[in-house]
Amino acid sequence: MKYEKEINRRRTFAIISHPDAGKTTLTEKLLLFGGAIQTAGAVKSNKIKKHATSDFMEIERQRGISVATSVMTFEYKTCLINLLDTPGHKDFAEDTYRTLTAVDSVILVIDSVNGVEDQTRRLMEVCRMRDTPVIVFINKMDRDGKNRFDLLEEIEKELKISLHPMTLPINSGKDFKGVYNLHNKSLLLFTANTKADEEDAFVISNLSDNILDNKIGERDAAQLREDVELVDGVYGELNVKDYLAGKIAPVFFGSAVNNFGVKEMLDTFINVAPTPLCRETSVREICPGEDKFSGFVFKIHANLDPKHRDRIAFMRICSGKFERNKYYHHVRLDKDIRFSNPYSFLARSKDVIEDAFPGDVIGLFDTGNFKIGDTLTEGENFFFTGIPTFSPEIFKELVNKDPMKTKQLEKGIQQLTDEGVAQLFTQFGGNKKIIGCVGELQFEVIQYRLLHEYSAACEFRALPFYKACWLTSKDEKKLEDFLRFKQTNSAEDKDGNPVYLAQSEWFLNTEITNNPDIEFHFSSEVHK
Ligand code: G4P
Repeated sequence: MKYEKEINRRRTFAIISHPDAGKTTLTEKLLLFGGAIQTAGAVKSNKIKKHATSDFMEIERQRGISVATSVMTFEYKTCLINLLDTPGHKDFAEDTYRTLTAVDSVILVIDSVNGVEDQTRRLMEVCRMRDTPVIVFINKMDRDGKNRFDLLEEIEKELKISLHPMTLPINSGKDFKGVYNLHNKSLLLFTANTKADEEDAFVISNLSDNILDNKIGERDAAQLREDVELVDGVYGELNVKDYLAGKIAPVFFGSAVNNFGVKEMLDTFINVAPTPLCRETSVREICPGEDKFSGFVFKIHANLDPKHRDRIAFMRICSGKFERNKYYHHVRLDKDIRFSNPYSFLARSKDVIEDAFPGDVIGLFDTGNFKIGDTLTEGENFFFTGIPTFSPEIFKELVNKDPMKTKQLEKGIQQLTDEGVAQLFTQFGGNKKIIGCVGELQFEVIQYRLLHEYSAACEFRALPFYKACWLTSKDEKKLEDFLRFKQTNSAEDKDGNPVYLAQSEWFLNTEITNNPDIEFHFSSEVHK
């Protein structure tokens, strides 16, 4: 395999969680271990606060921060780790889903007090679509959380994944004494604010040893012995193959803010997490070890300066070696382009890089050439598949407030939807432009950016739709008739695919029942 050494040392992953579970805190601790930052507090939370207001400067500022922290690359032991950040705010969930297409595995953070939350469920659904390997970190053990076994059961049931505990906690909240590592058979006693280089776990290979009672007290020692016996009997050794297939998730307990239990997880992570994986394309499977370079764009970030419309396209490298100033083939545009200033995202600075390998994410300056899902190759024509688009949740008609600026508005909305800020649907017949978003905040961002970057004033008119379904049928005539008959509910997406906009679940179910020859899809692919 070409570039074997480079490929085998890379781990590309994302941390996902419901807001406030501790994603930012855990990210920071991982960076501390990687030596990428020196002090806690260096990584700003890029979440837009839950009570996001119309403070656009704040949104802009947050956008700036999130470019800088979008990809964090650091070294740990022999590995080169690419950590892809995902926005915490629910309104930007689509961005998160797309980022998940660019990683090989994820760490899922769950708050031990709140257990499985809304966003946890949705994110796991996306992981399950791709069988992404998941490691679970149960956070905030220093708080009075749910019972450990109840939590495990809840996670298994709610997230439909089998768990494999790697550590077991000794109590929680003020009685939290630490964790026992089932794999190393070592006890790690809880101390607040553990240092990155501290190694205070000690091995207790024989749990009946009195030393355990001395360390944590008789009652807790007895409980731990019981827990370990139970867990060992049920789970045994971790089956790494099942983890890699996305069937079993190893679980760690800890407290991110105290840097407790994080190192155990990171050490396991670098051992078991997948190296860059093969990926499906429209033509064949592409594996990282192939000689020729290929990669795809999964995220586009607008420039902070509204006077310059250039953007940064984030590209995941899938095979071969990327080189600065070399011409690559842009498959969709059928044109060759080269990049003189590709970015790497070493956590401390944005550096221009000479080359990059599979698993890496690079930032490419873009003046409007890229759309989400675009593929670059060394000449071969294929698209990476599996980049999903989900139904928006709020739909509004885009109303032009200044007829003299129609062109600017069209261009602006085209570019913003290329970036994946929102989805654009055009109603059949009426030519009404419908914008679909996951949250209200995105409409504010669009309105603001159209005005400031494209000088186009617009407003939005609420529409009574709740879901978009992409339609296919073997019987084209039936599909055509349906679209004509349901004109007010029919539209096409940006790529011309027919879409049914449902007013309510009842309407949707009725149409599904009444039209057995038409298939209603709840997600679509950027390239089919
Ligand atoms: P997010 O990125 O997932 O949204 O969560 P974030 O890391 O910002 O953490 C959310 C809150 O939870 C923060 O408190 C953080 O300090 C706290 N937290 C994280 N890990 C732990 C833990 O192990 N134990 C406890 N008790 N708290 C934890 P905050 O008050 O919202 O912010 P801050 O002022 O502390 O930064």
